[in-house]
Amino acid sequence: ISLKPYNTFGIDVIARFFIEIIGLAQLQKVLELEAYPKKFIISGGSNMLLTKDIDALVLYINLKGISIIEETNDDVIIKVMAGENWHELVLWSLENGYGGLENLSLIPGNTGTAPIQNIGAYGVELRDVFQSCTAMEIESGELIAFDKDECKFGYRDSIFKNEAKDKYIITSVSFKLTKQNHKLNTGYGAIEEELKKQGVIYPTIHDISRAVITIRQSKLPDPKEIGNSGSFFKNPIVSKKIFEKLKRDNPNIPFYEISEDEYKIPAGWLIEQCGFKGKRFGETGIHEKQALVLVNYGNASGEEVFELAQKIQKEVKEKFKITINAEVNIIK
Ligand code: EPU
Repeated sequence: ISLKPYNTFGIDVIARFFIEIIGLAQLQKVLELEAYPKKFIISGGSNMLLTKDIDALVLYINLKGISIIEETNDDVIIKVMAGENWHELVLWSLENGYGGLENLSLIPGNTGTAPIQNIGAYGVELRDVFQSCTAMEIESGELIAFDKDECKFGYRDSIFKNEAKDKYIITSVSFKLTKQNHKLNTGYGAIEEELKKQGVIYPTIHDISRAVITIRQSKLPDPKEIGNSGSFFKNPIVSKKIFEKLKRDNPNIPFYEISEDEYKIPAGWLIEQCGFKGKRFGETGIHEKQALVLVNYGNASGEEVFELAQKIQKEVKEKFKITINAEVNIIK
C-alpha cells in the first residue's frame, strides 16, 4: 500500500507489508512473526521523511484510549495510548479543565511518538508534564516502563533517539496535569503579543491554547493542505564565543540564552538570511512564512526534499560556519 496518507510530508512510497496495530496482545504476536524479521514503526508520521519504498513489515500503531489513573484535588495523572492524536488529546484536557498541555496545542502527530523527540513549543516541552511511558521491547515483546529520568530528555532529544533507538515501541504515555493553580507559561514573546492583541489580561489555559493555535496557523502550513513535518532542522546551539562573533557581524540576530556558554540560534533566521525563504524548487520548497519548514507541494519525492535540505545545510555552513542538523527522522 502507499504510505502517502500515513506521513504528514505526503511522500508517496510503497510498503510491501502493512499491519494496523489496535491491541497490545496483537502487537506482541506480530513481533513474533519470524517471516518478517525487520519491522518499521509508524504512527502519526509527523516527524519523518520517507525516501524509499519500505521492505520491512510496517506496523501502524493505532492503539486508542485515555484513562485517569490517579487524581487529587490539585492534579490528575492520565494514561494515553500511543495512537491517540496529539491535538485531540490537548483539546480533551482543556475540555476537562486540566492544565499543562495548552502551549503544545496543534502539534501534528500522535501521543506515542511525542516522547521520542520531546516535542516542544512556546516555552513548554513534553518533559514538563511527562510522568512515565510504557514501551514494548521489539526483541522480546516485553512491556517496560520508563520514568522521566530514564527517558533522558533533552532539546528535541531522548533515549529513544539514542541508546534505545529502534529497540522499543512506545505503547502509552502518562502525564501529570493540574486541576487548579495552573502553571501558565506566557513568557514566549509571540504568546504575550497575541494575548495583548486579543485583549486578554488574565489568561486562562483556554486563552493560551487559542493564542498558540492562532500563532501556529499564521506561520506553519497545515499538513492536510501542504505536506510538511514542522521544523525540518533543530535550532543550533553555539558557544558564547561563536555567538559573540555572530552578533558582531549580525547585530539583529535573534537568539535564546540557554546557559552562560550556550546560545540557541533560530535556524529559520539563518536559512532566511541565505535567501531561501518562500523559494520553490520543483515540487518542494521552503515555506514562505517560516523558513525552518520544508514543504511538499504535492508530488515531491523524499529524495527531492532531502536534496533541498542538504543544499540548505551547505549554504548555511558556508555563510555562517554553523552546522544545522535535521530534526526530522530521515529514512534512507
Ligand atoms: N525567524 C526568522 N525567519 C524565519 C523563521 C524564524 O527570522 O523564517 C526568527 C523569528 O523572527 C524569531 C525566531 O526566528 O525571532 C524564532 O522563530 P519561531 O518563534 O517561529 O520559532 P523557531 O525557533 O523557528 C521553534 C521550534 C518550533 C516551535 C517554535 C515555537 C525548533 C526546531 N522549532 O521554532 O517547533 O513551534 O519554536 O516554540 O525548535 C517543530 O519542532 O516542528 C516546531 C514547529
